[in-house]
Amino acid sequence: MNGRTCLITGATDGIGKETAIGMAKNGYNLILIGRNEEKGKKVSDEIRKIADSIDIDFFKADLVLMKEVSRVADEVCQKYDRIDVLINNVGAYFAFRDVTEEGFERTFALNHLGYFLMTKKLLDLVEASDYARIVSVSSSAHYGTSFEFDNLNGEKKYRGFKTYQKSKLANVMFTYELAKRVKDRGITANCLHPGFVASKFGNNNNLLWRGILGFAKALTAINVEKGAKNSIHLACSDDVKDITGRFFANCEVKKGSAKANNEEHNRRLWEISEEAVAPFL
Ligand SMILES: NC(=O)c1ccc[n+]([C@@H]2O[C@H](COP(=O)([O-])OP(=O)(O)OC[C@H]3O[C@@H](n4cnc5c(N)ncnc54)[C@H](OP(=O)(O)O)[C@@H]3O)[C@@H](O)[C@H]2O)c1
Repeated sequence: MNGRTCLITGATDGIGKETAIGMAKNGYNLILIGRNEEKGKKVSDEIRKIADSIDIDFFKADLVLMKEVSRVADEVCQKYDRIDVLINNVGAYFAFRDVTEEGFERTFALNHLGYFLMTKKLLDLVEASDYARIVSVSSSAHYGTSFEFDNLNGEKKYRGFKTYQKSKLANVMFTYELAKRVKDRGITANCLHPGFVASKFGNNNNLLWRGILGFAKALTAINVEKGAKNSIHLACSDDVKDITGRFFANCEVKKGSAKANNEEHNRRLWEISEEAVAPFL
């Protein structure tokens, strides 16, 4: 045990679950967030068998809904006075457009707005730590696209993979802007590409998409243990303690897309996100 606490979103499967296992092995207490209570209990029990001296707390929330992100963040704030590492991990690819009851296209909501709102609501708790790291799981899919401010909810045109790419670009733009905004508060913020990982990623889609992704995973994907390495590195390694506002892959700083280096765009995305989540703060 090292007495530190790490919060992980989307921790019931895939990279998030494996990150939780890795953090537990490194002695971190865990706050796990997922939408499925049963899976949350199962994962917590599984981790307790590996690391029985750490504390594990599971919170249920459907993170595609901002009211749920807000509620669960409030519950965490009521119970904890410090978070040492926040890992925004939850994410999905949606082949077809759908809009949540709150009016947001679900890729934009789950993959970007949720990261933004969770971070905003937990920032004081992270600042209360002398360790204070925020890690966001992006993707190399963020290369080769630019952000469309006039198509945030895919209302003009929706193509599943393009929309996913833009949400992952938003993760990088958010991280760069966040790092600037929190640099005087002793907090670091970095993001990463985990690799192409043989997780359940994409399995929420129809048979055709599951088949395409399943085939690609069988050919080239790495396993979830390897896929969690970057997140664990950014959360635990001493080597990165003073690094902030960077994109990582293979546990090394990589040049993120030039499209994420537009300060005006990053500020604009921040302001738009702030406005979007304002009713849920
Ligand atoms: N896999 C890859 O090749 C790859 C590559 C680059 C980046 N990424 C990124 O890595 C992150 C993790 O993906 P993964 O590959 O581990 O995917 P995964 O195997 O599908 O796991 C996703 C996790 O998020 C949870 N989740 C999904 N929707 C949720 C919601 N509405 N509310 C709460 N929890 C929800 C899932 O819960 P359930 O257990 O209930 O399903 C699961 O625990 C994502 O941000 C993804 O974009 C993945």
